[in-house]
Amino acid sequence: MVAIAPDLPAKGIADYLREQENKSLLRFLTCGSVDDGKSTLIGRLLYDTKLIFEDQLAALERDSRKHGTAGDDIDFALLVDGLEAEREQGITIDVAYRFFATDRRKFIVADTPGHEEYTRNMATGASTADLAVVLVDSRQGILRQTRRHAYIASLLGIRHIVLAVNKIDLVGYDLGVFDRIVEDFRSFAVDLGFATIQPIPLSARHGDNVTRGSENTPWYGGPHLLEYLETVPIEDANLGKPFRFPVQYVSRPDLDFRGFAGQVASGAIAVGDTVTVAKSGLSTRIKEIVTQDGSLDRAVEGQAVTLVLEDQLEVSRGNMLVSPTERPHVADQFQAHVIWFDANPMIPGRSYILRTETDSVEATVTALKYEVDVNTFAHLAAKALHMNGVAICNFSTRSPLAFDSYSDNRITGNFVLIDRMSNRTVGAGMIDFALRRAENVHWQAIEIDRKARAALKHQKAAVVWFTGLSGSGKSTVANHLEKLLHAEGRHTYMLDGDNVRHGLNRDLGFTDEDRVENIRRVAEVAKLMADAGLIVLVSFISPFRSERRLARDLMVDDEFIEVFVDTPIEECARRDPKGLYKKAMRGELANFTGISSPYEAPEHPEVHLETVGTDPDELAMQIHAVLESRMEP
Ligand code: ADX
Repeated sequence: MVAIAPDLPAKGIADYLREQENKSLLRFLTCGSVDDGKSTLIGRLLYDTKLIFEDQLAALERDSRKHGTAGDDIDFALLVDGLEAEREQGITIDVAYRFFATDRRKFIVADTPGHEEYTRNMATGASTADLAVVLVDSRQGILRQTRRHAYIASLLGIRHIVLAVNKIDLVGYDLGVFDRIVEDFRSFAVDLGFATIQPIPLSARHGDNVTRGSENTPWYGGPHLLEYLETVPIEDANLGKPFRFPVQYVSRPDLDFRGFAGQVASGAIAVGDTVTVAKSGLSTRIKEIVTQDGSLDRAVEGQAVTLVLEDQLEVSRGNMLVSPTERPHVADQFQAHVIWFDANPMIPGRSYILRTETDSVEATVTALKYEVDVNTFAHLAAKALHMNGVAICNFSTRSPLAFDSYSDNRITGNFVLIDRMSNRTVGAGMIDFALRRAENVHWQAIEIDRKARAALKHQKAAVVWFTGLSGSGKSTVANHLEKLLHAEGRHTYMLDGDNVRHGLNRDLGFTDEDRVENIRRVAEVAKLMADAGLIVLVSFISPFRSERRLARDLMVDDEFIEVFVDTPIEECARRDPKGLYKKAMRGELANFTGISSPYEAPEHPEVHLETVGTDPDELAMQIHAVLESRMEP
């Protein structure tokens, strides 16, 4: 929401704009636990700085009387929540930035709505914030959530904290309560590396110490909130930093023009300067800096421009143009801090889409080194990372990324993780450093390739991936298919869950984490075998879509054939070849697929076998037909 200052007509637009331009900008966010008064505080700030439109104000007064919880007073929470509701009707956005200004400074407050998903919104919305207002309810004191938010704020590189001890009216404006909370917070936050912590006793609802001082707190001699926000010194964090320009897209309006569009993430660039393409290491000079309003000699951090280069170098979206002397890392393995905010836990070995400012790549966590207890900062061993957890992890990406350490650059050092199935943003990361080990393991060039190996066997490699419940008939059908192929002189190999779990995967059980690792390993093995030119039959329950997808993506072209062995669970339980269903139903077998552990049926399998009433030979023939159609050159 951009509000126009009420005194605009008197000053004239040009003066007003010039004034705005010269003011410094403070980006901040508010955090706190449920009912700490976040919305009321933002509402109060906007109201007292007169940045609410007339019509909104009228509506607010009306709504306050109707729905408010503040008696005859205006309920400011309704203002913010009302805007939230407006937003909900449109496309869902996680974070809204509200702009307001006073005579001394401009502000952008990241309004991160929703209590449930607060961590998500904070982590995705706050990476550029200078300051966090941590709200505490005077009656409650520092809660677990307060600690978590403060910890995340420090991870995100936020340097300044306002400890807003809210609802101070409800504890009788008691200095003792205030002091205790401040002491509590300071002793917790010593190790978080904040540059400043400013405690302020306030009442968002009554306005004490929000935009004016309060007679109710004579013992407090510090600034009120707005005064503090107006005057807290902030560093121009990115200006002195090396030039970084993540390329958003390649602009090619006609054959004669080719430019790279994006926003300067840090540093500055001028026409004639040398720049390097991060991923290729090739350098050239800046020929022109184009904007909508004509060309510039120079562009600095924050400016959106299109750069035209002297030489035609290959630079695609996701690459970066950078300073030739101070380059970013280019690596496919690194360590990062991860904040997880999805109900489904992060599981090492599972593949996610990792998205940086402009790049996007498949990534897996190769090691969850430890989780951090946000209350004590203790390092905890963990197999998976659950909602609201923070952990240190090693990542491996499918292709190299260009990045900086987050401590060097908050824009080029952060990423989000996206679930491949739901497309939801499930985590956020701050890169610590590139892992050097990746640099010393190179691909061996191999002269006899997969095609050559398969050709010698007069076949095309394939991975036939059977998925289905235990007892659905996967192994039986796979056996029939293998016999059929073998009789035709095809070269095959069978990877069967029960068998592989006796050898390669004997260390794995049936928790979600272990199943993910089970499938990851067998998918890698199947890939090697397909490389060797074989027709590989893989028969694993493989209950999760995500890992079947990972397996599919590992193989080339149309090599992967997913076969859904679809047998109703009642039928599997009736057959019960190993007596496992009976055990599971008696409660003697934990995590049993279909009973106490989920099975996610395939949505688009290449072959869908309904087994009831059809004999295995016939089912094998159905797969055979699909395989045959792909064998033809
Ligand atoms: S997967 O889920 O990780 O793909 P996999 O196919 O390797 O499972 O192993 C499944 C086999 O292990 C089943 O056919 C069954 O014989 C045996 N098994 C033992 N415990 C379980 C369990 N809790 N859930 C499923 N299968 C189990």
